[in-house]
Amino acid sequence: MVRTRPLIVAHRGFSGRFPENTIRAFQEALKLPVDAIELDVRTTADSVLVVIHDETVDRTTNGSGRVRDLTWDEIRHLDAGIQRGEKFAGERIPSLDEALETIQGKTMLLVEIKETGTEERIIKVLDRHAALEWVTLVSFHADAIAAAKKIAPQISCMLIGGRDIGSSDAAFSDFVRAALNSYANAVTVHYAALTEERIRYCHQHHLFVGTWTVDEEDLAEKLVLMGADEIATNFPDILLAMLTA
Ligand code: G3P
Ligand code: CA
Repeated sequence: MVRTRPLIVAHRGFSGRFPENTIRAFQEALKLPVDAIELDVRTTADSVLVVIHDETVDRTTNGSGRVRDLTWDEIRHLDAGIQRGEKFAGERIPSLDEALETIQGKTMLLVEIKETGTEERIIKVLDRHAALEWVTLVSFHADAIAAAKKIAPQISCMLIGGRDIGSSDAAFSDFVRAALNSYANAVTVHYAALTEERIRYCHQHHLFVGTWTVDEEDLAEKLVLMGADEIATNFPDILLAMLTA
């Protein structure tokens, strides 16, 4: 079968229109024919895995402080919707457990490991939800990918490359080597670091190539023509409408 479009990932859920990394953002993404949802995982002071992007709760909630210094009881009472408007008041920071209960394999899920050393605990939670088959672990840290692959070789893993790896072909091939050395199955690369040749280079090394975070149609079109296999976006509604038109 010939695939006619790249996979579309709802980045932090349907975060362009709903509060990022919340149950509401995941539920709204599930109403669209997205191929996957992406979320970020950190740990509270009392070792609960929670879904939040930043190191602190300041930007996305009505609270303040570092996630790692707050307990789950403190975190779960914060409002993670109000910063996006009154109509979203009452949204919470979910635990990884709660997010998995909501998504339940209805679509694929990319779980980004923000903190190295949490791989084993994340995999335990995934296993408890029978989620190892529909989750891909994602990280900027090659060490985290290597550790995850050691614990659960069957789980799909993706190494993230930032804009910086596009600074030279040598930097890009170092990144590809790091992906291969950590046994990643895929890479996802900041769109500014990608070229058609670099995507081909990844494919030659049997790596699936995603890109992030793409919210403009023109840019998405360019990346499709370059051969990207997957696009993460805050506006999956816009990209899906464009790619299926
Ligand atoms: O998967 C790539 C992307 O999620 C990494 O960037 O900052 O949104 O976590 P960030
Ligand atoms: Ca992320």
